[in-house]
Amino acid sequence: MSESRPVLAVSDLCVSYGKVEALHHVSIRIRPGEIVTVIGPNGAGKTTMLGAIMGLLPRSRGEVVFMGEDQPAAEVEEMVARGVNLVPEKRELFGEMSVEDNLLLGAFMRRRQGFGDERETMAMVYETFPRLKEGYAFGR
Ligand SMILES: Nc1ncnc2c1ncn2[C@@H]1O[C@H](COP(=O)(O)OP(=O)(O)OP(=O)(O)O)[C@@H](O)[C@H]1O
Ligand SMILES: [Mg+2]
Repeated sequence: MSESRPVLAVSDLCVSYGKVEALHHVSIRIRPGEIVTVIGPNGAGKTTMLGAIMGLLPRSRGEVVFMGEDQPAAEVEEMVARGVNLVPEKRELFGEMSVEDNLLLGAFMRRRQGFGDERETMAMVYETFPRLKEGYAFGR
């Protein structure tokens, strides 16, 4: 497994807020099937690192390679379209929309990528997380 090509390779990543550098020279390799956890005290830079990988924050230095493709200045929308997702630590879902509508947003993206229509994706989600189906009316 350690010989396989990384799914995600981050090299020498630095991020600054204004003139203050908050993330210093971070490198990380994630190979197929691996679950990697980054731990550190408050303010260590975990959220900053994830934000910069996703394209939510600009990098001042460093390289992000996803599935062998360099992402020199990827926007968050492009990263999501490529299959990189960030689950926000705060309540950053669309709170004024229903759970179903939040899920449908993801389903539309999958349809665009050719992974089946909304109905198929929603069926898969509800099979994996049956609790979400409570109160679900889509397609009835
Ligand atoms: N928007 C911002 N503007 C300026 N400095 C910021 C901003 N966001 C974070 N920082 C600073 O960057 C550093 C890294 O913060 P970050 O939020 O990435 O840490 P974290 O490891 O996610 O912390 P926590 O465990 O509290 O979530 C901290 O010194 C923080 O004060
Ligand atoms: Mg954080």
